[in-house]
Amino acid sequence: MSRKPTHTPPGQSGLPLIGEIREWLADPLVFAQERAARYGPIWRTHLLGRPCVVLLEPEGNRFMLSSGAQHFSWREGWGRSMLRLMGGGLSLSDGEAHAARRATLKPAFSHATLRDHLPSMVQLVRDHCASWAASGEIIVLERLQTLAFEVAALVVCGPLPPYLAQALHHDFAMFTAGLFTPLALPIPGTTYHRAQAAGKRLRIHLRTLLAYRRANPLPGSNDALSLLLVAADQPDADSIISELLLLLWAGHDTVASLLTWTCYELAQHPASLEVVRVEVAQTIGAADPTPETLRHLPALDRVLRECERLHPPAPGGFRGVVEPFEYHGYHVPRGWLAMYSTVYTHAMPELWQDPARFDPDRFAPPREEGKTAYSLVGFGGGPRICIGLALAQMEMRVIVCELVRRYRWEILPEQDLTRVWLPTNQPKSGLRVTFTAQT
Ligand code: HEM
Repeated sequence: MSRKPTHTPPGQSGLPLIGEIREWLADPLVFAQERAARYGPIWRTHLLGRPCVVLLEPEGNRFMLSSGAQHFSWREGWGRSMLRLMGGGLSLSDGEAHAARRATLKPAFSHATLRDHLPSMVQLVRDHCASWAASGEIIVLERLQTLAFEVAALVVCGPLPPYLAQALHHDFAMFTAGLFTPLALPIPGTTYHRAQAAGKRLRIHLRTLLAYRRANPLPGSNDALSLLLVAADQPDADSIISELLLLLWAGHDTVASLLTWTCYELAQHPASLEVVRVEVAQTIGAADPTPETLRHLPALDRVLRECERLHPPAPGGFRGVVEPFEYHGYHVPRGWLAMYSTVYTHAMPELWQDPARFDPDRFAPPREEGKTAYSLVGFGGGPRICIGLALAQMEMRVIVCELVRRYRWEILPEQDLTRVWLPTNQPKSGLRVTFTAQT
């Protein structure tokens, strides 16, 4: 007998008001695995003040990211702090407004534009890495955040005077810290309040930049700001500034998070590091990387994919349910949250041999794991796949090439490498290493 479609999925609600947010934050993978063992690939929890349906496995990812996308709002999947601090932007919009904005921004992330940016990116990476070596001991996450911010600023805002890039980055750290706070109340002394103040300063800086660029356009430039200034729908200044904030945030924290874990894994697996080192030496040697040479680094590509699998910067994605739907015989009402779980999919033994193990060769023939659609979803998937994917891939390759060609790093003892999930997945200590030039 088929189940009545009025049945909502099985599950539990946790504590009043906070639901199961503490359990989810403590370990989103164990959280999903325990409940999957109990209820199967669809179940209910309570997060961000609402019932939340969780759809697991590649099939659930596909439904949320592509085939069932019409049931979901991206904007309504974010918490109040994010909505208030960020205001708007691509990931916080839906429907036609989203499609129009995505079309406007697309040229900023095209291969042709990235090719133009590559020499500046290479120079930035070279300068930053040299300064890390001069310090001797560094916190990898912090250094990568600074570097990735400058790369994102170049692509999003065009060339900036160094003082402005630094001022923006300084306030961004405080701004980012408030994006996921549970209470969005401006109480002095709280992380949210500090984030609000940093957000105000960031908006002032960006408003000045915007006025300057309106008066002094960069002809032929495809940076996101230039594209927004001539967009057909003529967004107002507040809307452009929100978009810049969103792009700058999404464009640097994620890269820094994934590359911090990449440095960790390469330090732990010297054989993999050596394979990448040899490949880079043979393919690029001492020359500057080009888009063509960067595309021919299969061993590095496998390492980056394995790090994306084991250490995705976001544990999954949330949406608001705006059209009720049925899934596996259950009814999911309007007004609920929905979540897909990247970490769960990336750890499924049905898809990945010995999933907890760092093993880049799983992507190579004859195994070629990860071919199942929606099984590797660190960058999302479907029509709203990460717009910065090609940028991130180029940037991560440039950085790892520079690191393995010229430097060595060793993880320092006695540090807390516990994983923290928000705002992006990172080791608590930020990964402290000794960092030296190769002799
Ligand atoms: C390692 C680097 C990165 C990772 C892992 C990453 C991950 C993601 C994921 C998972 C999504 C989809 C979220 C969802 O639909 O549930 C996404 C969307 C997005 N990403 Fe990235 N991202 C990275 C780099 C970047 C960069 C460099 C930029 C831009 C400068 C960027 C900008 C965006 C934007 C604007 C969206 C929203 C797209 C839309 O809704 O149409 N990301 N990213």
